[in-house]
Amino acid sequence: MIHCDLIISHEYIKDEDLAGKTVVVIDTLRATSVLTTALANGASQVQCVSEPEEALALKVKRPDRLLGGERNSLAIAGFDFSNSPLEYTKEAVKGRTRIMTTSNGTKTLLKATAAQDVLIGCLLNARAVMERAISLDRDIVFINAGTAGRFSLDDYITAGAMLGTTNTQVELSDIARGALLLYQAHPDIHSALTNCRHYRRLQDLGLTADLDYCLTKDRFDLVPIFQDGLVTRPNQL
Ligand code: MLT
Repeated sequence: MIHCDLIISHEYIKDEDLAGKTVVVIDTLRATSVLTTALANGASQVQCVSEPEEALALKVKRPDRLLGGERNSLAIAGFDFSNSPLEYTKEAVKGRTRIMTTSNGTKTLLKATAAQDVLIGCLLNARAVMERAISLDRDIVFINAGTAGRFSLDDYITAGAMLGTTNTQVELSDIARGALLLYQAHPDIHSALTNCRHYRRLQDLGLTADLDYCLTKDRFDLVPIFQDGLVTRPNQL
């Protein structure tokens, strides 16, 4: 039987916990929602880097590349996009390569390389991600990006929503079961998150449209993958 576990933030990632497993990286607000949206709207690939300086240096070499990301949820000087998924329209990203850096989401991806497969997960593709993870028939580890290395309820309840989409028998660790029980008790995710740290941060910045968008379930069937620093559609590499 497939075993499902969960890691609450990138600070707790250990290679030995990921080796040979399928990892689902979750940063619902907003990095993995942005990545899924960009790929669904036709971006050819997204290169993830740790620091803004790296992205700016790459743009000097390849001016055709689009830069996107945030620090402290704010746009980065010299970048083409912030980290609002609503900016990644078909017109803006179709056929283009993007370079992305965010506070927690891309950091988590760059630390998950010991896994057999790394899937990009959020509420927008919750059902599709769970189906794909189970179809790979290996133990699954949900990695929550967290906020500033700490537990973030938006990522945790998203893992619960993913588990809530499947009837396949999977063995859950206590922390994974906690996520499922939380989601089953609070299926209205918006109201469950209203007093949470990152939700409030985005609200205070007036990014309520981003919140509404990122907290929508199953808008896409696409499950992007992360490999060799690149986020792509499956079977694209
Ligand atoms: C992150 O990676 O920390 C988030 O995506 C931040 C944000 O978009 O506000």
